[in-house]
Amino acid sequence: MAKDRTSFVCEACGQGYSKWQGQCTDCGAWNTLVPGQRHDLAAAAPSSAAGARAGRMASLAPASSLQSLSDIAFEETERQPTGIEEFDRVLGGGLVPGAVILLGGDPGIGKSTLLLQAMASILKLASEQSVLYVSGEESAGQLAMRAHRLGLDAAVSQQLKVLSETSLEKVLQAMEAAQPSVLVADSIQTLYTEMASGAPGSVSQVREVGYQLTQWAKRTGRAVFIVGHVTKEGALAGPRLLEHMVDTVLYFEGDAQASFRVVRAVKNRFGTVNELGVFAMTERGLKAVTNPSAMFLSEAQLSGGDTGSSHAPVSGTCVTVSLEGSRPLLVELQALVDDSQVPNPRRLAVGFDGQRLAMLLAILHRHAGIACFDQDVFVNAVGGVRIQETAADLAILVAVVSSLRNRPLAKGCVVFGEVGLTGEVRPAARGLDRLKEVARLGFHRAIVPAANAPKSGIKGMEIIGVRRLSEALAQLS
Ligand code: TYD
Ligand code: MG
Repeated sequence: MAKDRTSFVCEACGQGYSKWQGQCTDCGAWNTLVPGQRHDLAAAAPSSAAGARAGRMASLAPASSLQSLSDIAFEETERQPTGIEEFDRVLGGGLVPGAVILLGGDPGIGKSTLLLQAMASILKLASEQSVLYVSGEESAGQLAMRAHRLGLDAAVSQQLKVLSETSLEKVLQAMEAAQPSVLVADSIQTLYTEMASGAPGSVSQVREVGYQLTQWAKRTGRAVFIVGHVTKEGALAGPRLLEHMVDTVLYFEGDAQASFRVVRAVKNRFGTVNELGVFAMTERGLKAVTNPSAMFLSEAQLSGGDTGSSHAPVSGTCVTVSLEGSRPLLVELQALVDDSQVPNPRRLAVGFDGQRLAMLLAILHRHAGIACFDQDVFVNAVGGVRIQETAADLAILVAVVSSLRNRPLAKGCVVFGEVGLTGEVRPAARGLDRLKEVARLGFHRAIVPAANAPKSGIKGMEIIGVRRLSEALAQLS
């Protein structure tokens, strides 16, 4: 075997290094380099480790002979819906045969609960299906307790096979014996194979276990769910190696303290990405929230901020409407801007990109003459939701300025629009859909990019179209 001189390897992405260093230059993670040979990662490599790995990746699709694309017959893939509408939405309609789906998220967010509910629902919908739920984290007794709590009916529990096991070899044996149509591996970090070195959860183990499960799915045409824990830094342990191996990557996000949870597709070979599935965690498991547009508002902002509520408008808050997936979602942004006591004032963005906050503050200074360089700036998207859209820019800045000047925005007002580096406010996609949803929820005022202001207006709403950041800020009372 060719000698691989790499002697450190990044636990997060698998990159090899000859010397130890504090940060992985490949994925940017800190303190993730551990002693190890890169060829540990591809067990039983016949030639060079890298070559073998490439070959193994390429062999995930079944081998076939050379043919013209036009000669290949195809069928519209049949999907098995899970019957949980919000989950099917992120899956792109349901399970595709042979699909491997990675479900990532923080511990305690509800991954096991969701999958157990989804499996029970599949069995209820289609009795010819069979499910094997492998848990390396919980004992069979704990699983049964959860099933009881979820109120699964007896016929379903009878059909749902569970295995509490951490050895992949034993799991593979059980899979061969049971031939389930859907397999759940909960979680990849607890499964352990003799075919690779390292402790459970290490790069080499995660890669090999992921590879074996993927191979099985492709060979048998059965669907596999792989549960993966997210590390403190917010990355899936071993993210890259799993993300490109699997067909679909779903992230479960939200505030473990709050009851609302969001499942987001970040990669999907069988559907669109950035669809959201929205759930609430209840006493009896996760309940789908089919009309989620208003759930990320604080109480003071509910029902457009006024009808029947006694709250006076407060400064430092602004409601925006974000288009995550195909549905508009109202999200409240809260800002706190305060005199800084430290030489490097703090900037903290929770629920969106921190770099973007720094950029927006620079635009605010340059194009509206408002400086925050002696201020700590904290901005939070309420409810633990993550905003990925730039259409929230204007609302972020309105919240910041509102806090800085201690001037509230008028009640029942919504703001959206991207802010460009030259201080212009740029239109957002599907502005009319957003405005209609906002009107439906009882808001009666909107500050929007001029290009998004509908010519004929919207009944019951005052719409203020703005072209520049400064025009929008002039609306603060
Ligand atoms: P769990 O599915 O175990 O999370 P994960 O697999 O992502 O680690 O969910 C754990 C939390 O959900 C736990 O704190 C208890 C709570 N929970 C409920 O509130 N209601 C329920 O019906 C269930 C089953 C769990
Ligand atoms: Mg779990």
